[in-house]
Amino acid sequence: MKITIIGTGYVGLVTGTCFAEVGHKVICVDCDAAKIKLLQEGGVPIYEPGLEELIQKNAASGRLAFRTSTREGVEQSDVIFIAVPTPPLPDGSVDLSFMEGVARDIADAMTSYKIVVDKSTVPVKTGEKVSETIRRYCKSRVEVDVVSNPEFLREGFAVEDFLKPDRVVIGVRSQRPVTALREIYAPFNCPIIVTDIHSAELIKHAANSFLALKISYINAISVLCEASGANVQEVANGIGMDHRIGRAFLDASLGFGGSCFPKDLSAFIKISEQLGYDFGLLKEVQKINAQQMDRFFKKIVDTLWVLKEKTVGVLGLAFKQNTDDIRMSPAMELCHRLRKEGAILRVHDPQAMEKAKAVLPNVTYVSDMNSVADGCDALVVATEWPQFKKLDLDRVRKVMTHPIMFDGRNMFDLEEMERLGFIYKSIGRQCQS
Ligand code: UDX
Repeated sequence: MKITIIGTGYVGLVTGTCFAEVGHKVICVDCDAAKIKLLQEGGVPIYEPGLEELIQKNAASGRLAFRTSTREGVEQSDVIFIAVPTPPLPDGSVDLSFMEGVARDIADAMTSYKIVVDKSTVPVKTGEKVSETIRRYCKSRVEVDVVSNPEFLREGFAVEDFLKPDRVVIGVRSQRPVTALREIYAPFNCPIIVTDIHSAELIKHAANSFLALKISYINAISVLCEASGANVQEVANGIGMDHRIGRAFLDASLGFGGSCFPKDLSAFIKISEQLGYDFGLLKEVQKINAQQMDRFFKKIVDTLWVLKEKTVGVLGLAFKQNTDDIRMSPAMELCHRLRKEGAILRVHDPQAMEKAKAVLPNVTYVSDMNSVADGCDALVVATEWPQFKKLDLDRVRKVMTHPIMFDGRNMFDLEEMERLGFIYKSIGRQCQS
C-alpha cells in the first residue's frame, strides 16, 4: 500500500517506519523543515531503541521518504494517517487545532477518494469533526472516509509494540475503508477489531486511564504496606497472578508521568464532564499520583531534615526507562523540588541528560552512574532504568558522605541493602529488622 503519515513525533515516525518495514511505501510529512532535513540525512530526533536502524534501512530501500509538503503526501497516497500532537489546554481539555489544520490541508490537496486515518489520541467524536471539516473545505468534492485507529505503543518499546501489537482497533462509519486497513495491518498477524468511530476513540482514553488507575491502585496499596509493615511487591505478585488482574502495571513508584497518562487522564475527565458524567474515580487516580510524589519527597525531608546545601545524587531524569523523554517526568519534578529547597544536585540519566540541561540548570551532570554518589548525603533512584540494578553498591556506599538511598522505583533487594550498610527507603516496603 502507499501510505502517508502526517506528523513525525513518537507515534507518526514509528508508525511510518514500521509500515515501511513490513513492505508498504511510506511518505512521512512534517511541517518542521529542520526535523525533515535531519531525517533525510539519516538522523533521528528522538531516542527509541531500534528505530534509527529501521529508518536507515527502509529509507535506503526507497520504501520510506520524508517530506515537508502535505500536498505531495496527499497526492502520492490513497491512505493518509494523521499523527499530530493533541496537547492539553490549561483547563485540561484537548487542543485540536493541529488536527483541524491538517484536515483542512488534506481537503485542500485532495483530488480523488482518500481514506483519512486518525492515529492521534483524540476526544470521542473528533472523527466526526474531521470528516465534516474535510468535506467542507474540499473544493474538488471527492469522497473521503475518516477512520479512527488509535495507537497503543509505549515510549521506549515503541518499535517492538508497533510490530507486535496485542490488537489493532479500526473505527469506521461504513465498511468501505475496512479492506484497505486490513491489508495495511495484515503483515502484523494480530487480532483486528472493527468498531464504530466513537468506540474506537473511547477505547484509547479508556485504556490509558485504566492503566493509570492500576498504577494509582498499587500506589495506594503501597501506603497501606508502609503503615502495616507489608511488602507491596509481594502484594502485587500475589494479586497479579490472578489472570483477571494481571501483574503488569502494578509496580509501585513515585508516580507515573510522561506525555500520555497525565494528559489523557485530564482530557478524559473533561470529556466525561462534557458528556454529563463526573468521572470521580479518575480524579482520585490523579490525586493518588500527586500524593505519591509528595509522600516520597516528605520521606527525603524527614530523613535529611534541612536540604539546603546537602548534596543529593539523582539517578534518572526521563519519565521512564528506555527513553530520553522528560515531559511530565516525576524524576524532573523531584529535581526541581530538591533544588527549590536548596539541595546541591549531582544527576545522571543514560539518555535524557541533553534534554534535561535545557530546563534544569545549576546541577552537575555526571556521565558515569557509579560516580553520581561521590560525596553525596543521599542518593535517589527516580527512573526505572534496568542498568541502575547493576550499580556498584559497595563503591557507592564508600564514596557517599552518608549511605542513605531513597528508591522511588523499588530496584534493590531490601536485605542486600541492609547487609551493605545502607539506610534504604523505598516505596511500600521496609526491612523487617
Ligand atoms: C502509555 C501507554 O502504556 C501506551 O499504551 C500509550 O500508547 C501511551 O501511554 P508511555 O507513556 O509511553 O505509554 O509509558 P508507560 O510504559 O505506560 O509508563 C507510563 C508511566 O507510568 C511512566 O512514568 C512509568 O514509569 C509509570 N509506571 C508504569 C509505573 O509507575 N508503574 C508501573 O507499573 C508501570
